[in-house]
Amino acid sequence: MHANRTDRDVAASNMEPWLKRRCSDPQLRLNAISPYYTMFPLAFPLRVLAGAERGWVLDPFCGRGTTNFAARLVGFPTVGVDINPIAVAIAQAKLASTTVHGVVARCQQIVESEAPGDVPDGEFWRWCFHQKTLEDVCRLRQALSDVQTEEDIVLRALVLGVLHGPRNKGLPSYLSNQMPRTYATKPDAAVRYWKSREIHPVYVDVLDVVRRRAEHVLSHVPDKVPGFVRLADSRTLAPDDFAMRFRYVITSPPYFGMKTYVSDHWLRHWFLGGPPYVDYASDPQLGRPSLPAFIEGLREVWTRVSQVCEPGALLVVRFGAIPSYEVDPVEVLRASLSGTPWKERRLCDAGSASNGRRQADQFQFVRSRSTLEVDLYASLEEA
Ligand SMILES: C[S@@+](CC[C@H](N)C(=O)[O-])C[C@H]1O[C@@H](n2cnc3c(N)ncnc32)[C@H](O)[C@@H]1O
Repeated sequence: MHANRTDRDVAASNMEPWLKRRCSDPQLRLNAISPYYTMFPLAFPLRVLAGAERGWVLDPFCGRGTTNFAARLVGFPTVGVDINPIAVAIAQAKLASTTVHGVVARCQQIVESEAPGDVPDGEFWRWCFHQKTLEDVCRLRQALSDVQTEEDIVLRALVLGVLHGPRNKGLPSYLSNQMPRTYATKPDAAVRYWKSREIHPVYVDVLDVVRRRAEHVLSHVPDKVPGFVRLADSRTLAPDDFAMRFRYVITSPPYFGMKTYVSDHWLRHWFLGGPPYVDYASDPQLGRPSLPAFIEGLREVWTRVSQVCEPGALLVVRFGAIPSYEVDPVEVLRASLSGTPWKERRLCDAGSASNGRRQADQFQFVRSRSTLEVDLYASLEEA
């Protein structure tokens, strides 16, 4: 049915000027609403989708929703699934439609009217936020614990994006004391750092930070497309879960050995209702403990995904290895696809051309020479 769809070299080279023109496009700002580890570059799913026949797009490991946002940019309906609540909260915002005014008005309503609820106490919290800022953060945490509207979805992702980060000289961009924006420092190390340098938290006006961020991110939002993002384990997807059938699956599973991002994102996890400490116990994601179990888990996902796809559907997987677990990613990926209805069509090095930084690089390890990232294209055999 879609015999040539796996061979996209020509389409990819035609895409280059289009992608360059889009780099400065304010419509892309929504894609950067909040950091999350290991996103792949937007250009990767866009290359697959731009110019392709319209159809439903699925990402069963959607992370912060880059595939879903690419689908939105080209006007395709899309669904994302992820097991991590932080990823889901961010990805849901990628499909939402709202206005700066709507989000700011909702934020104002919350900080002015809600009781602060459960305000955590202890050395970390006293050093991390000014007390008044922390109370506003807690008001938002409480009010957004059950999001009902698109304003709520976008406001929640905006707050996740500004919750912690570096302190600037001018107007503050983040709500916390000095901290990286990509991950949250563990409490003891953070307190040691602030105390030894005598960096005390200053009052940050939450509404003002949210307003400035909303004006930047939401000034030009792409047209809405049908779709949703769901919190689920993709190893348990069932055909009845979806009314639609997918034509494209564009995804990047965790690489073997990766641990859950929840502990590195523990402050964002707390904002979403998690505990006020690093929860090392919770690691439900596919990634460990043994290689055979990992391959089996991936195979389960590819099989279940095939059951919600239309015949001839295209699967594109970006996959690699992390330096601390040196396995051959091609062997692992091929082993996971064997015995499934997906037939490999093409394999290429993902690090070449203008694909951007490798995901493995984002783990702050020095990349070993043997680390490889590949893109594998497969199609769903006609029954
Ligand atoms: C490499 S990241 C994907 C990043 C994504 N491409 C992006 O641009 O943000 C892998 C994702 O798979 C998710 N994941 C791991 N195990 C999963 C499972 N069993 N079901 C669904 N998602 C899972 C992780 O939470 C993580 O967000």
